[in-house]
Amino acid sequence: MKPAAAGRAFLCSFCLALCSLCCAQVLWRSGDHEWKKLIMVHHWPTTVCMEVGNNCRSPPDYWTIHGLWADKAEECNRSWHFDLNEIKDLLQDMKVYWPDFLHSPSNRSSFWKHEWEKHGTCVAQLEALNSQQKYFGKGLDLYRGLALNSALLKLGIRPSGNYYQISDIKDALASLYGVVPKVQCLLPQQDEEVQALGQIELCFTKDLQLRNCTDPGEPPREPAGGRGRARPAGALWGLEVCEDGPVFYPPPPEGGR
Ligand SMILES: *[C@@H]1O[C@H](CO)[C@@H](O)[C@H](O)[C@H]1NC(C)=O
Ligand SMILES: *[C@@H]1O[C@H](CO)[C@@H](O)[C@H](O)[C@H]1NC(C)=O
Ligand SMILES: *[C@@H]1O[C@H](CO)[C@@H](O)[C@H](O)[C@H]1NC(C)=O
Repeated sequence: MKPAAAGRAFLCSFCLALCSLCCAQVLWRSGDHEWKKLIMVHHWPTTVCMEVGNNCRSPPDYWTIHGLWADKAEECNRSWHFDLNEIKDLLQDMKVYWPDFLHSPSNRSSFWKHEWEKHGTCVAQLEALNSQQKYFGKGLDLYRGLALNSALLKLGIRPSGNYYQISDIKDALASLYGVVPKVQCLLPQQDEEVQALGQIELCFTKDLQLRNCTDPGEPPREPAGGRGRARPAGALWGLEVCEDGPVFYPPPPEGGR
């Protein structure tokens, strides 16, 4: 090849590469709101309170709902605003099982507004969840169906000053529910501290059947993250996949409900 031809060839393939990169980008963008797993997220109030500097008056002493999420999609419809009136008949249960224990009772609906706008508007693609009434109602139904609190008791896993192994908790939940859960922790700020159990996620198909939170072929355990993973300072809801090893399941503070 003459040098000039070689140059053209190079330029051409460079353009081609650039084009396919653009194409991939466009495809990826349009896939923004595509998701395939529905995630029922439970959190342990005592750990969430630790995370924000023990800033709760009396956190519930049971696992509550954080949200019903889609994997890989957030804020799917910014013009679909939260409307407390649509869930009036659910409020009694919402206050107990889906409470905002971080804010004063007068402001607790801002948590539901956040969950609806960030996650609800995405999972509302499913007919079973296509209104606020259905989203919050189905969230409560799934929570009751999973009965995580009694499941943990049945498995002998209770808040304790002694540590559990994270693999024991995951394996026990997997054997009970028949699917692989995802477990998240508040990672220690200092080396001598132990991660605290914060969040338990169970995943569903779009047909609302339980499924593994992992994808086929994916190892059931996350690869070891290694010590000293940085956590953004002061981040709210900054829980991360637990590391293998010991975990603290913190008892609620004295005087809690
Ligand atoms: C977004 O929500 C609004 C209000 O409910 C609705 O009218 C509109 O069709 C929705 N848009 C999409 C793309 O779903
Ligand atoms: C309610 O809580 C949200 C945070 O979830 C906060 O941004 C807002 O300022 C609070 N409103 C009042 C009136 O306290
Ligand atoms: C779920 O995960 C378990 C454990 O890794 C695996 O044996 C099983 O085949 C998985 N199920 C599906 C449907 O992928």
